[in-house]
Amino acid sequence: MGGSRIERFTCTYSSRFLAVREIDEDLMSTNSIDSLLHESRRFPPTAEFSAGAIAKPEIYDEAKADRVGFWADQARDLLHWHKPFTETLDWSGAPVARWFGDGELNVAYNCLDRHVESGNGDRVAIHWEGEPGDTRSLTYAELTAEVKRAANVLAGLGIGKGDRVAIYMPVIPEAVVAMLAVARLGAVHSVVFGGFSSESLRSRIDDASAKLVITADGGWRKGKVFPLKAAVDGALAAEGSTVEHVLVVRRGENEVEWSEGRDLWWHDEMAKVAAEHVAEGFEAENPLFILYTSGTTGKPKGILHTSGGYLTQVAFTHKNVFDLHPERDVYWCTADVGWITGHSYVVYGPLANGATQVMYEGTPDTPHPGRWWELIEKYKVSIFYTAPTAIRSFMKLGREIPDGFDLSSIRVLGSVGEPINPEAWIWYRDVIGAGTAPIVDTWWQTETGGIMISALPGITTLKPGSAQVPMPGIKIDILGEDGTRVDPPQGGLLVVSEPWPSMLRGIWGDPERFRETYWSRFSAGDTWKYFAGDGAHVDSDGDIVLLGRVDDVMNVSGHRLSTQEIESALVSHPMVAEAAVVGAADEATGQAVVAFVILRSDQEGAQTVDEASTILRAHVAQQIGAIARPRQVFIVAELPKTRSGKIMRRLLQDVAEGRELGDTTTLTDTSVMQIITDKLN
Ligand code: WTA
Repeated sequence: MGGSRIERFTCTYSSRFLAVREIDEDLMSTNSIDSLLHESRRFPPTAEFSAGAIAKPEIYDEAKADRVGFWADQARDLLHWHKPFTETLDWSGAPVARWFGDGELNVAYNCLDRHVESGNGDRVAIHWEGEPGDTRSLTYAELTAEVKRAANVLAGLGIGKGDRVAIYMPVIPEAVVAMLAVARLGAVHSVVFGGFSSESLRSRIDDASAKLVITADGGWRKGKVFPLKAAVDGALAAEGSTVEHVLVVRRGENEVEWSEGRDLWWHDEMAKVAAEHVAEGFEAENPLFILYTSGTTGKPKGILHTSGGYLTQVAFTHKNVFDLHPERDVYWCTADVGWITGHSYVVYGPLANGATQVMYEGTPDTPHPGRWWELIEKYKVSIFYTAPTAIRSFMKLGREIPDGFDLSSIRVLGSVGEPINPEAWIWYRDVIGAGTAPIVDTWWQTETGGIMISALPGITTLKPGSAQVPMPGIKIDILGEDGTRVDPPQGGLLVVSEPWPSMLRGIWGDPERFRETYWSRFSAGDTWKYFAGDGAHVDSDGDIVLLGRVDDVMNVSGHRLSTQEIESALVSHPMVAEAAVVGAADEATGQAVVAFVILRSDQEGAQTVDEASTILRAHVAQQIGAIARPRQVFIVAELPKTRSGKIMRRLLQDVAEGRELGDTTTLTDTSVMQIITDKLN
């Protein structure tokens, strides 16, 4: 199997990534697309698929003829409005958009009650599978009933419109119930990924001044219970927290400490409240959630999304990109609810569309490496959405594992989080999709809220390695440094040129950073262009190939991490004088975190470099979360700097990528510096 080919491709992307970052001449005249992709096969849709597909080719023309009107049609067709809107887009307050501004809706009602009222209450909403093998299936009627009770619990705890609620949970049905109960009350959730540390949770709770935290005692991962409540206790230990209560779902059955008066068991509270709860309409621009994501500076940004536009776009894209036929499809998106993919394509998109979906708590390889394929066989999953990093790790294990299961129910495959290399694309189609399933490579971001670039499976001729075309109603441009559009086959920077319904409405508490980060680079006068932070290339067919981030954001297993955030975590350790972090190409995870650290002079010799490296890797995991743990920490005597004192990350990246080193290997200062010096010459 093509391990070395994958690696070569990853490196190609990586060097492109560097080229884009520095916007050098080389990138601006990228060679032909085929040499970049090493794959020239094309896959048109079958006549049968096209005939039954939700999206018809006219959709592009309709959207082009009247872009704003197109979105108004989607909002009316896909959602229930408590009060219909008359105004579609108000861009007068740019870069903060108002979509459907005078309309009112209830997001949870749209995801729940209306499906029950229209006779689909018995349809399964969620087939949930716990890692140890316990299962629960919830129909739309059952899920609606749970959310109504939960909304009553929350209201009883004083949660109402605009209040912030932090959710720190494993992938269990109660996580979805909690999110929808918050939404039902017009309050704002901030879901914090359960793998984040107590420190990370604390900073997110504080930044949003959350009043309530909803968590679980623990969750299952890799055959063990990981504690969550303990991390919440840690996050709330400091004086002055805004949190009044902690609601705890029993899941792990692990021991927990209890703070009387503050802590409440979810099941106790759910049993006490009324079953009925009437959903009230809230204005379309009422905030729905804040989700923190890494940016170029140390502090994560609280990305703010609102209700009507967000729900319109996630419902529209979920239905059309995955060709969802809710009456017969079984959909499975493997994302954790703690990430944007979990928000938009586990919770809001699928439930707004009345889909039946699978939700799985644990890791793909527990208790055996065929667990995911076993679940596809068991629930007859027909639409499957995952990340390239997962596909690559399954490729490595060999096709015998998926071949041991019946995957014939699959008819659409999706990919998200990072560029999917053509080798992985072909493997995904051949092995998981029986050589026939269309693959949609979906490009989007926490900030965009919903899918922005993707093929539509009954329409687009698929091209491995390319996310392909903007969604109908979305305007994307690729610009050069000077802001002018670059012509194929040149590469440049990806911008969104017109406002879109699910666009972020700001960074929580920091309007200046919002303007500066996304809108300052290419906007001029009344023309606002959203700068995504990704490099991209358009080929002569007009298809878009994503080239990776152009800033100091890394993409590790499809998760965004900031180099500066990890550097701050490293220098917070008393041993460390200075640190530099780079994202190095990694065959399995896309990029991996590699750190270069100078120890304080009084620390030198206190540990071996191996010990120091181990301590610091653990420290980062404890400060931020295990996903940020560096693959390697190199202890060095110096860092390469420019005359003005800027660290030359590009050289460090060359070092990090240029050698095949094992997990615990460290370099001595002289050898690192020697390599760096060699590169300089
Ligand atoms: C990257 C995840 C190439 C990109 C939904 C973007 C992709 C960042 C793709 C957002 C794709 C996501 N092809 N790159 N199909 N999907 N990315 O906010 O660099 O976690 O800017 O949202 O992931 O990551 P985020």
